[in-house]
Amino acid sequence: APTPAPGRLSARGQALATTFCATQLEVQPFTPGIADFSAFPLTLWQRLQNKHWRMTYPDMLDYNDSGGYAPLRRAIADYLRVFRSVQLDADQVIVTTGTQQSLELCARLLADHGDTVWVEDPAYWGAAKAFMATGLSIHPVPVDDEGIHPGAADNAHPPRLIYLTPSHQYPTGAVMSLARRHQLLSTARAHGAWVLEDDYDSEYRFSGPPISSLEGLDVDGRVLYMGTFSKVLYPGIKLGYLIVPKPLVVAFKQAHYDLNRPGQMPLQAALAEFIEMGHFSSALRRARQSYGERRAALLEALKPVLTQDTFISGAEQGLHLCLRLPAQVDDQALAQRIAQQGLTVRPLSAYCLARHDLKGLVIGYGYAPLSEIQRCGPVLAAAVRQIGPPR
Ligand SMILES: Cc1ncc(COP(=O)(O)O)c(C=O)c1O
Repeated sequence: APTPAPGRLSARGQALATTFCATQLEVQPFTPGIADFSAFPLTLWQRLQNKHWRMTYPDMLDYNDSGGYAPLRRAIADYLRVFRSVQLDADQVIVTTGTQQSLELCARLLADHGDTVWVEDPAYWGAAKAFMATGLSIHPVPVDDEGIHPGAADNAHPPRLIYLTPSHQYPTGAVMSLARRHQLLSTARAHGAWVLEDDYDSEYRFSGPPISSLEGLDVDGRVLYMGTFSKVLYPGIKLGYLIVPKPLVVAFKQAHYDLNRPGQMPLQAALAEFIEMGHFSSALRRARQSYGERRAALLEALKPVLTQDTFISGAEQGLHLCLRLPAQVDDQALAQRIAQQGLTVRPLSAYCLARHDLKGLVIGYGYAPLSEIQRCGPVLAAAVRQIGPPR
């Protein structure tokens, strides 16, 4: 696309158009972050949608100022209470168009222009972009094997918000330890900061003990929890949820209404019934089984390349894992070479905000069917093996 002439965009617009830009959607084997939408029960979904459109009464076509369709909010609350140990009433659920909108709402309501937000380094680009768009100052905080790890240098940049993916850090896959969770909450308390927990893929846990939400440990109501239907249903459904502490509920609902004019009530009603009738749990069960097999095939294919300094992180959960590589490897060039074989992996260094010590490949196993993973896994492994002499 032609670059806009200087001055046509605002400084913020210029930054938004050029920084943390998602690469074009390439749906090929190993593209991270993409689920297999072909498994979605379309016929059933169509039937439910038709039913709810037939039953739609005029109110359902209006904007909605209550945080979303009440039965859907109840269904989300029941699910989160049982499966994610989130402490909530349905009244605290705000249905959004996904994590992006949840993040922007939090940034607009809880921070002022120029306030500091701590963001994990490496980071989820979508979050960094939402904070840029809302005029916050991003302070990258390094992630290690136990999750985000703020030190004295970070405390010198007191945060107003702390954004993190504690259950499965995006993209390294690190699971935040219990000790680190308690530390983080007390650091947030010391700074008077809000914590934004992005629990984007906890529906898929394949090994290791179950992990509860960080919100479940929060005793003073400073964690805002967000999730999405993008990974279990399909991204284009554009539905997610934000759980806000009770004292913020009224302000968030009002601002959501004023800023976003939410609606889509017939769609929300169809989804509520999809969950209530057990179709969501069945879809999840089938998806877990299928992604589990794909994950196992990918792990098997990568076995021959593993050494002391080429190892896998974050494979216990989600739809991607991270193959960590020695610091001297050019992971961007490697990802490009792999792309020439019709496979998409993302270089870990491309997610880094301020650090230069992380190299690796972020590899998804959600999109491609098992047979494709079995066929392409060895191709991927062969490309990795070519990076140099024995490491
Ligand atoms: C860390 C993280 N959060 C959220 C999302 C997606 O959220 P949504 O589609 O609801 O905006 C993604 C998508 O890949 C993600 O990687």
